[in-house]
Amino acid sequence: MTRYEQIKTELLATPKTWLVTGVAGFIGSNLLEHLLKLNQRVIGLDNFATGFQHNLDEVQSQVTAEQWKGFRFIKGDIRQLQDCHTACTGVDYVLHQAALGSVPRSINDPIATNETNISGFLNMLVAARDAEVKSFTYAASSSTYGDHPALPKVEETIGNPLSPYAVTKYVNELYTDVFARTYGFKSIGLRYFNIFGKRQDPDGAYAAVIPKWTAAMIKNEEVFINGDGETSRDFCFIENAVQANILAATSGEAAKGEVYNVAVSGRTDLNQLFNAIKQSLGDNEVRYDKEPVYRAFRAGDVRHSQADISKAQRLLGYAPVFDIEAGITKAMPWYVSFMQGDK
Ligand SMILES: NC(=O)c1ccc[n+]([C@@H]2O[C@H](COP(=O)([O-])OP(=O)(O)OC[C@H]3O[C@@H](n4cnc5c(N)ncnc54)[C@H](O)[C@@H]3O)[C@@H](O)[C@H]2O)c1
Repeated sequence: MTRYEQIKTELLATPKTWLVTGVAGFIGSNLLEHLLKLNQRVIGLDNFATGFQHNLDEVQSQVTAEQWKGFRFIKGDIRQLQDCHTACTGVDYVLHQAALGSVPRSINDPIATNETNISGFLNMLVAARDAEVKSFTYAASSSTYGDHPALPKVEETIGNPLSPYAVTKYVNELYTDVFARTYGFKSIGLRYFNIFGKRQDPDGAYAAVIPKWTAAMIKNEEVFINGDGETSRDFCFIENAVQANILAATSGEAAKGEVYNVAVSGRTDLNQLFNAIKQSLGDNEVRYDKEPVYRAFRAGDVRHSQADISKAQRLLGYAPVFDIEAGITKAMPWYVSFMQGDK
């Protein structure tokens, strides 16, 4: 039995109370769905900055009425310390996801990104420490590797940040180190590498590449590739990230006070990604015949990214189940249905 299977069995037998911040967002709502299906009690905090009520409604439709009763939503803002204190009360495990994502957003408005991702993060750390929660797991980012050229990325070796967003995610790591040393409050950082899957927002200027291209293909619009198409990423399906969060939150002392890459250790370039999405949509009866349109490289983007995941495998028992193809196969029917207004 994998550690994940074992933990899920234990959680079903002895439900815990979880706080998921950013619960109306992509990753947060998927965490919520998985936790409720394990009969856990979940408190969710969100201010709907980039999250949606329809994500919560969809989770409700995926769980039983009894499981849904285990969820309590707080509309609140991590920039308000009192909201963080309220949300952390009586909580066993914190999964802190709330932040303003997107490199370009942070370049356009570094102050807004800083306020949520650094001041809001610090509020959450203080509140979680004061509430004496069993563990604090937070969304770190592969952007912390910055301009360091080495591949695959190993947790201990980072470069200079390439965007305000990357600065904020690195500052999160520095704060958690200081909280471990100063207050003995150890956290776990999960450096996500391009997570994708259902409920990732396809709309708006700051949409991530997979939902953006998928929506464009379904609408038969042009797909733009920034650069020559050889920029590569370690795309990671959401269910792997959910697994990493549950394993991290329930890990022993030896695994705490660390950061971990969360990815599959694969590498897919944008040209390959274009073809994979197109093909999978074809399997879902969406034909797309246009060629991609190449345009300038985007400021702040890392050229290549691929994770070494051995640390998470070793210390958390992380064992990703979905490679990019399996993830895309699972995600595409949801997008087709979502874009047709079924969801
Ligand atoms: N998706 C990825 O590939 C990826 C990669 C690296 C890191 N991350 C990190 O993972 C986390 C979740 O990202 P996501 O992709 O689900 O994004 P998302 O935008 O879908 O979710 C973020 C959620 O946080 C909420 N939020 C924002 N500001 C808030 C505030 N001040 N108070 C309360 N709630 C607030 C938003 O409303 C939203 O529901 C973020 O911390 C992000 O930086 C994501």
